[in-house]
Amino acid sequence: MPIASASAKPWWYDAVIYQVYPRSYSDANGDGMGDLPGITARLDHLAELGVDAVWLSPFYRSPQADAGYDVADYRQVDPLFGTIDDFDALRTRARELGLRVIVDLVPNHTSDQHVWFQEALAAAPGSPARERYMFRPGLDGKVKGDGALPPNDWQSIFGGPAWTRVVEPDGTPGEWYLHIFASQQPDLNWHNPEVRTEFEAILRFWLDKGVDGFRVDVAHGLIKADGLPNWSAKVAMVEGSKTETAPAEEAPESPEAPPYFDQDGVHEIYREWHKVLAEYDGDRLLVAEAWVEPVARLMRYVRHNEMQQAFNFGYLTAGWDALRLSKSIDESLAASATVERPTTWVLSNHDSVRHTSRFGLKDPTTYPRGISAQEEQPDEALGLHRGRAASLLMFALPGSAYIYQGEELGLPEHTTLPAEFRQDPSFFRTKGKETGRDGCRVPLPWSPDEPGYGFSLPTPGTDGAATATTTTAAPAQSAAPATPWLPQPETFRKYAAQLQSGVVGSTLEMYRAALKARQEWALGKGILVWSPLHAPTAGVVSFTNGKLLVLANLGSTAVELPAEFTVFLPSDSAAVSGTVLNPNAAVWLLPKS
Ligand code: GLC
Repeated sequence: MPIASASAKPWWYDAVIYQVYPRSYSDANGDGMGDLPGITARLDHLAELGVDAVWLSPFYRSPQADAGYDVADYRQVDPLFGTIDDFDALRTRARELGLRVIVDLVPNHTSDQHVWFQEALAAAPGSPARERYMFRPGLDGKVKGDGALPPNDWQSIFGGPAWTRVVEPDGTPGEWYLHIFASQQPDLNWHNPEVRTEFEAILRFWLDKGVDGFRVDVAHGLIKADGLPNWSAKVAMVEGSKTETAPAEEAPESPEAPPYFDQDGVHEIYREWHKVLAEYDGDRLLVAEAWVEPVARLMRYVRHNEMQQAFNFGYLTAGWDALRLSKSIDESLAASATVERPTTWVLSNHDSVRHTSRFGLKDPTTYPRGISAQEEQPDEALGLHRGRAASLLMFALPGSAYIYQGEELGLPEHTTLPAEFRQDPSFFRTKGKETGRDGCRVPLPWSPDEPGYGFSLPTPGTDGAATATTTTAAPAQSAAPATPWLPQPETFRKYAAQLQSGVVGSTLEMYRAALKARQEWALGKGILVWSPLHAPTAGVVSFTNGKLLVLANLGSTAVELPAEFTVFLPSDSAAVSGTVLNPNAAVWLLPKS
């Protein structure tokens, strides 16, 4: 492709986007909870890492029943995280550092503490306030007309029924409301024009604040099938990955799609949002969190007049397996070509066991829902080798790539978190059957010898130096920082950023080197060609992207390096021995000049 047309692509086409989970990135006020000033103070880390944009998971006013994915006020910052001025300061600093900022939008449901839901509870059945949500009368139980049973059999993604019965203002048992997630997350009624108008206003509010885009939470869930038909199967967040590369327009309906996901009506909403974003300059981005299959169905979210990107969860769930990985790459590239949108690549996020830990399990293709001390413990060293190799492979792929905070340090999952610290509603709603997602949400280690591994910044008046920003996040604190909101395992110490920065061969330096080269060689805008060395049945994944040759060994025997190439970047110091690439490793190679 000619350089001129390649460089004309929008920024998000090949962007590397770093997910910040505000609770756990950095704490500026010493209360043990991450906050916006903490993020601002450590944005340099991201600029030095070489990412293009930061995606902030929710920091809005919220009772935190689902770690902020239960929003009580979409235009305010929760006092846990700071103030709206802190957000502006973060945005300003990001701009100075050349980083774009994407925020999370949660349109499927609000918090039960949102003023709309409180109004709905106080109002009568059939009232306009109730019409903003999914209220329905119950079915008959023991007595005709008692409405004692839920309106249908839908189950919450987090376990238990997807309906909760309310007590009417007069004290009698009343209607039921739908919550596909926790009961504190009532689903909105997206057939109601008022809901649509409100969310367009929320988009504008944040666009006016200068955000570069939105990650759209549960983008496939907003519209429910007419009549809310029964659906007995409980839907998990991931159902393995089935793929098809039919053009998006011809994509067949998934026979397994539940009546509350991936309904055609959602697309009309995104066509309207597309228009809102188009009113603003600078190629703003909508990225869909949509666990949809086959991939041709997913591509419908990124048609030219809808969103710009959708997360590639088929890739995330492919695991450490050469055949599955190559198939996912092929199918993802083919599918995104049908809509002329970039593919996205992602290995970890705040809902998934960290990939370094998944790949250290006996079956490195599994996608466990958290790992507890009672379950199989990953091989930490093996997982790290594989995790680094997988990341190196990913950064060479054309398209846009996502990094989940801590990944650049090689952080493992916390797999022995005691139950008393768990906060994920899925742990409680399944009565512990699902371990939940807390293990990937543990506060980051920044320095090895500070309390909390330096998660809390020194505050003015202690040693003074590091906090460039004054914080307004409540509450004010004493000199010693509180312990982090989730305890860190001892093993986090050796992953501290300070121990890795400037250290040749560290995970952090491998990430920095890969992202720098990716940018210089425009790999994100490049073209993947499988190399003659590509042999997935033998565990070898190999492709070229421009002058770069990538070789990854997912098998169990060493692979000879091609003689006419020289090593540019190995996944770690154990990757290459003499002229061979060892198992559980990857390498970037360049032609010998
Ligand atoms: C998305 C989020 C997840 C949240 C859920 C409900 O899947 O990524 O963290 O619990 O939506 O909002």
